[in-house]
Amino acid sequence: MRIGVLTSGGDCPGLNAVIRGAVLKGTKIHNQSFVGIRDGWRGVVEGLTMPLDRHTVRGLSKQGGTILGTSRTNPFEGPHGGPENVQATLDRIGVDALIAIGGEGTLAAAKRLTDAGLKIVGVPKTIDNDLDATDYSFGFDTAVEIATEAIDRVRTTAESHKRCMVVEVMGRHVGWIALHAGMAAGAHAILIPEQPQSMEQICEWVQNVADRGRAPIVVVAEGFTLNTMETAHSEKGLDAFNRPRLGGIADMLAPEIEARTGVESRATVLGHLQRGGVPSAYDRVLSTRLGMAAIDSIMREEWGTMVALRGTEVVNVPFADAVGRLKTVPQDRYDEAAILFG
Ligand code: F6P
Repeated sequence: MRIGVLTSGGDCPGLNAVIRGAVLKGTKIHNQSFVGIRDGWRGVVEGLTMPLDRHTVRGLSKQGGTILGTSRTNPFEGPHGGPENVQATLDRIGVDALIAIGGEGTLAAAKRLTDAGLKIVGVPKTIDNDLDATDYSFGFDTAVEIATEAIDRVRTTAESHKRCMVVEVMGRHVGWIALHAGMAAGAHAILIPEQPQSMEQICEWVQNVADRGRAPIVVVAEGFTLNTMETAHSEKGLDAFNRPRLGGIADMLAPEIEARTGVESRATVLGHLQRGGVPSAYDRVLSTRLGMAAIDSIMREEWGTMVALRGTEVVNVPFADAVGRLKTVPQDRYDEAAILFG
């Protein structure tokens, strides 16, 4: 068999380790050959390939990003999209089966394609850790490490100036990175999309810390929203709080906290730093195991499934059970963290 491998959606530390795991097990144990599909589904639609063999993947497990490139192309859109066209392109470039490494959107597209008869196995990818069917996704541990180190660093400058620091981390729909990095770094408030809060509550936490002569640290996930319509107390205003948006929440919170509490406040947005650079050792191991499991699934012809971590075991779950449901932070996990707020 000639197996195509693609990475799709936002990049994530560990993608290259998945590719390496699949290629090394596929060539050494199963005697299969590989081809790299470039730039996610765009490569499948347009037939963009690159060589992929034991030599190409040498030393890759510690390399960030993806050697295959990625995109957010939808394989159902455009004149060459749709299952028949995609199958025709795969036939033309000599791909018998596909490993698709990606998040919710990628896996949903893979499900629709396998429903139409294409031979695809998935590997879940998201630094946000929001895919329900897997206990942890690779990239999350790395992102939490990076965010934790950043918050630790921000704390020393905050303490020196007795300022409140608002640190924004990734997390479009869920607050896993904020929860874990915030707990690890001892944040005084953690704000996540699953738990809208009022400005009054946030300022109470900040004030309590400032009253003890400490520098308040607020960690906020980019998808957080307030639970009330608010009136602006800061010059910047709160308009953007009350309408859908993504990112920049720390820049709005910091002046508002300062205006209401009188505690000098600054915002730090970590952004794509959390997705760049080398994966943690945990993510390298997880990625390698998932890549190896994906090639095993291909050999067993388990089309329409993805590999997943359950406890310490790598298992196989149908796409149907994997897409369409987000893994949000449960109430008890937030309540546990909130004991330490303020
Ligand atoms: O889904 C992963 C993620 O990193 C989100 O946390 C973030 O909102 C988004 O991707 C950013 O996407 P982009 O790199 O396309 O700006």
